[in-house]
Amino acid sequence: MSEGLTRRDFVAAATGPAPASLLDSAQARAQVPAKRRYAIVGTGSRGIGMWGRGFPTRYANELEFVGLCDVNPLRVEVAKRALGVACPTFTSLDEMLDKAKPDLLTVTTVDAYHAECVVKALGRGLDVITEKPMVTDEAQCKAVLDAEKKSGKKLTVTFNYRFAPKHQKIKELLLEGAIGAVSSVDFSWYLDTSHGADYFRRWHRLRSKSGSLWVHKASHHFDLINWWLAADPVEVSAFGGRHHYGKKGPFRAVNCRPCPHKANCQFHWDILKSPQMKSLYVDCESADGYLRDGCVFKEDIDIPDTMNAVVRYSNGVAMSYATNTFMPIEGYRLAFNGTKGRLEIRDWERQPWPVEEETEIYLMRNFGQREKVAIPKAEGGHGGGDTRLKDLIFKNASMPEYMRLPDSRAGAMSCLTGVAARKSADEGRPVKIGELVAL
Ligand SMILES: NC(=O)c1ccc[n+]([C@@H]2O[C@H](COP(=O)([O-])OP(=O)(O)OC[C@H]3O[C@@H](n4cnc5c(N)ncnc54)[C@H](O)[C@@H]3O)[C@@H](O)[C@H]2O)c1
Repeated sequence: MSEGLTRRDFVAAATGPAPASLLDSAQARAQVPAKRRYAIVGTGSRGIGMWGRGFPTRYANELEFVGLCDVNPLRVEVAKRALGVACPTFTSLDEMLDKAKPDLLTVTTVDAYHAECVVKALGRGLDVITEKPMVTDEAQCKAVLDAEKKSGKKLTVTFNYRFAPKHQKIKELLLEGAIGAVSSVDFSWYLDTSHGADYFRRWHRLRSKSGSLWVHKASHHFDLINWWLAADPVEVSAFGGRHHYGKKGPFRAVNCRPCPHKANCQFHWDILKSPQMKSLYVDCESADGYLRDGCVFKEDIDIPDTMNAVVRYSNGVAMSYATNTFMPIEGYRLAFNGTKGRLEIRDWERQPWPVEEETEIYLMRNFGQREKVAIPKAEGGHGGGDTRLKDLIFKNASMPEYMRLPDSRAGAMSCLTGVAARKSADEGRPVKIGELVAL
């Protein structure tokens, strides 16, 4: 008998029609699982902002915080205060898993450490939610997929972009065949001198930590394309260059606060102006030496700032892809070319001039007219995707089948596209996904 159903409810439901109200309440109770023992590893801005803040109220019936873990002992305490939770804090994931005994772990560490956290948690029988990118190289990818298979537990990769209503609309138009069969995709992503530069200030600037923006950032975009096309990437040819940040800069310092070039540097950023940034990073520097306001012209920057690739997919589609990181604009241009027309999207996320609409989608039919597509409005981070994704994970919110949670295979395919691009740019040759991991 289902937990929560009384014997009388069960007999009534089993022996004939019962009043709808009785069935509804019995079914509702039967569907309410016990609260999950929830923990986070990596309590930086994403860990607390996306995966903790507001949870004690919004998911009060679904989750109970049992542990927070970060290698930085000061930051994990700041996080605990910011979230207003009473659970214990840890600096070792093993210790947290042993003592706090969570049954659901969210992984929001620096990218290069996602895999080891995911493998440990799956190995102890937990369901795991990991931020993108799932992994930063092919060896980590294989380890994660093997660990999930062995554990029988579930790994969810949080591709929030899919859940923005504008992206769902694109999926629906493609599913209904609005432009026939897709033959090619043009996709250019623009990061501006604020957000784009920020990657070069932080740990993301090091390939050993982020896998480069091919993996850290582009895996978001590659996942969208894999999902929109319902196809797998097969082969990648890519080029990457550094034209503006790192050694290309006119001068440099270690970080912005003590910099002697403040007055001349357009990238100067005063972290002390944000009380939240100060408490989460500056006040925690003594524990690990991590400088959140690193110089964008530091010589150790080893990732490209300009990336171009061609990706071939299992359904014969080819995509030309580009990301530029020091643009006056933030947003993207995207087009699907098909046998019956073209779907053209322009996303204006930030620019120094006003725009009438943040996103425009046009459906152009061959031998026909251009039609403007209405986009459902949404509030919140990442085009409204963040909240919808969380409600789907924690409240099992109702969504169509094509909006189901991204799994480890999606995590693998998106990362491997980035890894293949990185390898292709390094080695000057096309790289097949099958060379990296057999899926
Ligand atoms: N989906 C999205 O839109 C989105 C947006 C932002 C960040 N992210 C992802 O979230 C993750 C965290 O990003 P962030 O901006 O919060 O970075 P951050 O630097 O603010 O936080 C990372 C935290 O992890 C801790 N850490 C590093 N290695 C650890 C380890 N092995 N064990 C425990 N703690 C460890 C660090 O001390 C730090 O507190 C990244 O993987 C990033 O890609 C995703």
